[in-house]
Amino acid sequence: MIPLHSDQVMSAATRKIVVLPGDGIGPEIIAEGRRVLDAVVDSHGLDLTVEEHVFGGAAYDAHGSPLPEMTLDACRAADALLLGAIGGPQYDKAPRELRPERGLLGLRSELGLFANLRPAMLYPELSAASSLKPDLVAGLDIMILRELTGGIYFGGPRGIEVRNGVRTGFNTMVYDENEIQRIAVRGFELCRARHPDGGARLCSVDKANVLEVSELWREVVTAVATDYPDVELSHMYVDNAAMQLVRAPKQFDVIVTGNLFGDLLSDAAAMLTGSIGMLPSASLDKAGKGLYEPVHGSAPDIAGQGIANPLATILSVAMMLRYTLGETGAADAIEAAVSQVISAGVRTADITTPGESSVSTHDMGQAVLDALNS
Ligand code: IPM
Ligand code: MG
Repeated sequence: MIPLHSDQVMSAATRKIVVLPGDGIGPEIIAEGRRVLDAVVDSHGLDLTVEEHVFGGAAYDAHGSPLPEMTLDACRAADALLLGAIGGPQYDKAPRELRPERGLLGLRSELGLFANLRPAMLYPELSAASSLKPDLVAGLDIMILRELTGGIYFGGPRGIEVRNGVRTGFNTMVYDENEIQRIAVRGFELCRARHPDGGARLCSVDKANVLEVSELWREVVTAVATDYPDVELSHMYVDNAAMQLVRAPKQFDVIVTGNLFGDLLSDAAAMLTGSIGMLPSASLDKAGKGLYEPVHGSAPDIAGQGIANPLATILSVAMMLRYTLGETGAADAIEAAVSQVISAGVRTADITTPGESSVSTHDMGQAVLDALNS
């Protein structure tokens, strides 16, 4: 179950945070995330150690592997991980097994981070940045819960081989009932936690009209629902869900879905907010340990320019404090500081509207620090 209060999480011993700056804009945005983390460590008297390790393309360059043993060991020993972003065009030609993305998939799988929470919410002041009409998205606050360590991403057999003289690529979408059940339970718990006073709605997304794996998915989710009479469950085919997300996104509350469908739908949901640079995410194991990272990628086109938006990383720090460390007060403080900065009109280039001026990555981080101290 997802820890939501400090009395539900690990004891008060020193907790270890491993920071993985990664590639592209990763190091720049992580620097701001760390400054904000340091600030709440001081102001809230938190007992944390923070260690940085190489990961992704940077680790491939330095050690010939995107997930070196030393980094993996440190991640295993950590209570929570904070990741910038990984990847870049310079790695497209690297052997498939050594590409940065494989490092990320390896980390998810090695640490059992099966529950991926991707919120899509819209700050009222930014509703003009959405490609949808403001009234369709005003007040949007949905959560996509994506299964992250199974499905077609990890299923076998997989490969490319010659069959009857023709090169053939293949992957396998596979879920066993235990995997479906544990993500469904997370979905219902998450839904309930968001709506302690009732009114929680969970939509399970599948392709049960075509795929056997989805047929089982639907059956298991429906069975789990009997333990959660307070949560209203619905089912939707993934093609319809994609359409409904851009037609009337506010009909959703929490969406639970498999790895591939979640990958696609969460990008669409992120874009609804018009500001993918604002969205944090969490990937949790069964005990509440988590990897926290911005939803956006490594943005190699703007890396090194000091203009990336650090708010998704800063909000990922808040999620880490909330979901793994149980430090609700510190998480609330960061989220309030970010809202304050947005209301005050501070904007990085990605969230400006024409005519508005923008600030640097560092200045945005500073604005959040100033708001925290005010
Ligand atoms: C994501 C990304 C990853 C995924 C890639 C980088 C492997 O798109 O986190 O959504 O497909 O899961
Ligand atoms: Mg993706």
